[in-house]
Amino acid sequence: MIQKLILLYYSGLRLTNTYNFLHKNNTIPIDSTLYKTGQLPKNFQIAGFAHNENATVAYIRSTVDPYVVNTLKDSHEKQQYEDFWKIVTYNYGDSTATKDYAPVVDIVDKFETGKTKGHRIVYFALPPDIFANTSAALKSTLLSKTGWTRLVIEKPFGRDSESSKELSDALKSQGWTEDQIYRIDHYLGKEMVQNILPIRFGNNQLEPTWNRQYIANVEILFKEPFGTQGRGKYFEKYGIIRDVVQNHLLQVLTLVAMERPDTLSASDIRGQKLKLLQSMANLKVSDVVLGQYVGNPKGVGEAQKGYTDDKDVPKNSTTSTFSVVVLHIDNDRWKGVPFFIRSGKATDESRVEVRVQYKPLDKDLFGGQSKRDMTIFRIQPNEAVYQKFNVKRPVYYEIYSLGNAYLPDAYERLLMDVLNGIQSNFVGTDELAEAWRVFTPALHAIDDAQEMPHEYVFGAQTFKEADDLEAKYGLIRQNN
Ligand code: BG6
Repeated sequence: MIQKLILLYYSGLRLTNTYNFLHKNNTIPIDSTLYKTGQLPKNFQIAGFAHNENATVAYIRSTVDPYVVNTLKDSHEKQQYEDFWKIVTYNYGDSTATKDYAPVVDIVDKFETGKTKGHRIVYFALPPDIFANTSAALKSTLLSKTGWTRLVIEKPFGRDSESSKELSDALKSQGWTEDQIYRIDHYLGKEMVQNILPIRFGNNQLEPTWNRQYIANVEILFKEPFGTQGRGKYFEKYGIIRDVVQNHLLQVLTLVAMERPDTLSASDIRGQKLKLLQSMANLKVSDVVLGQYVGNPKGVGEAQKGYTDDKDVPKNSTTSTFSVVVLHIDNDRWKGVPFFIRSGKATDESRVEVRVQYKPLDKDLFGGQSKRDMTIFRIQPNEAVYQKFNVKRPVYYEIYSLGNAYLPDAYERLLMDVLNGIQSNFVGTDELAEAWRVFTPALHAIDDAQEMPHEYVFGAQTFKEADDLEAKYGLIRQNN
């Protein structure tokens, strides 16, 4: 039985997620098996720790309240929310300095008194430059002597192969083992992303045609209708490829393309993902198109502002906020099938999808009118799987939809996995190294060239150069 939970967080945002996680799983008994079987922690404590000396629990609460208060349905839920804040403490300090942990260690010791086992989850949302010294400081201060200690690590896991390896090596040399490390990629906690393997391997329909004989191309599409929203300082250092492509969208791609694992164990799933990545060629610069949004004079509010209007972004910034990259997998199943990852901020809509386009019919009985059929996994909004068929009149068939069913937040699911020691939905060290290997040469070439990305207007659906790259590899856009 878990007796303690310690979460070190870096911003109020994470605590919002943490509250939702704890809150929902304590109050929604219906579909939480963990709740029913009593596996959720009964005794826990959240010890916040960050560099902000002005923050207090009351301040943090004031940043969380606006997201939660209106969702509390009755006095019971309100009381639970109050109770939640009683287990939260906050201390500030330098996370790399062992002496600064003294107040946290004190809280932990007091809480542990009289209990036989103390399990600890340490949640890192840290900039990479203080990462290794923080994990070292923790090792000598907060490692549990009576139970397990698990590190949950938020991205960025470095910014290229070398820096990522440094972080992974630092953890290893400090004695953290692979089974203690949970690199969180919240896309792996999304309902539809978690459904890719069950839909592929739990049915007979897709797998026989899920290969180069039938599939022309696969596009992972990510669009957001908002810009960098005041995160210019962070974004300027990373850009869209490091922000969402090398991690979230590549993870989705590996689930779409990997071979069937022997079992659903973490090692079998991660092993197949790793194999897939190993057969992926390095991204070539000629297979990349980049864009940066400019303000739309006719837009409303934020839409009038371009990326470089952010006060933390230099006017001559060459950082991209939109990209199309083409990846190639050299294995029997996928040789010759291009995988596009198209991602953009400040576009016309919110949409994340996997779009699998089949090859044209060998022989079209219908006077050449048949379009290419497609399988589409819509990750968000409104999770669904669609098949696009040619029928007498073109229609979409929706074969999977949860309607209004309650879907846990990605972080809720993933934190549950951490509690239960399930690692299949976390990114392993080898896998991370391969994911960076694919992107690093192109990212370095792009960083060095300092070329201006193509301009696109806030709210644009796409732009010509982005479409041209996909068209070059045979993507046919069909509007039906
Ligand atoms: C984050 C990126 O990791 O993922 C953001 O830093 C991006 O830039 C976000 O907006 C997208 O996540 P979601 O769950 O909102 O699709």
